[in-house]
Amino acid sequence: MCGCQNPTSPTTSAGNATDTAAIIKDGVVKTILERRSIRKYTNQPIENEKLAQIIECGLYAPNGMGRQSWEVRIVDNPELLAQIDAAYSKFLGKENPNPPKKAAYGAPVLIFIGYDTTYDLSQVDCGLLGGNMMIAAQSMGIGSCCLGGICRFFNAPEGCELLSKLDFPPTHKLLYAIAFGYPDESPKAKPRMMEKVKYIE
Ligand SMILES: Cc1cc2nc3c(=O)[nH]c(=O)nc-3n(C[C@H](O)[C@H](O)[C@H](O)COP(=O)(O)O)c2cc1C
Repeated sequence: MCGCQNPTSPTTSAGNATDTAAIIKDGVVKTILERRSIRKYTNQPIENEKLAQIIECGLYAPNGMGRQSWEVRIVDNPELLAQIDAAYSKFLGKENPNPPKKAAYGAPVLIFIGYDTTYDLSQVDCGLLGGNMMIAAQSMGIGSCCLGGICRFFNAPEGCELLSKLDFPPTHKLLYAIAFGYPDESPKAKPRMMEKVKYIE
């Protein structure tokens, strides 16, 4: 259908101003635009039902060939979180005289996401899963932060003992983690690079 246009969709890149105003009032768009990475959390735990709902929203993300190629591991045990903090801080301490004491900024829940190394689009599945979870969390007033750095540690020789606790099958590799908790800060959005987006005529 290359070159065809849907007669009901806007024909200009600017769209229709009235339609745009209506869209911005929509709850989902507001939630997406208001989500920020949170790096300071309160002590308030996440309610079980809310956590379950966040996870369900992740699992309902689109996924290639319906394979649901991710593996998801939830860590909310304070002792294990403290173990992770200590090991990560020690790992960073090799190069940083003042390493951060908290691997996940003190968040009460850490979700680890593994991708299927036998499926070329599995990382896309995993990204969409996490995106859904973070937006769902935001809609409930729960903050989140993607964490790539901590996974470099888990995937390094020093992190292998903790990695084995995640119990991924041999086909899967840890891709990233997400911290979840009630926010104790309200950071502003960094400006987005609109020049990266082009309408192709
Ligand atoms: C793949 C990925 C890895 C990230 N890793 C980290 C991390 O290790 N530590 C951290 O504080 N933030 C991390 N972030 C959060 C980004 O810094 C953040 O999303 C970005 O600056 C945009 O800010 P916003 O999320 O508030 O819109 C990561 C985000 C992504 C998508």
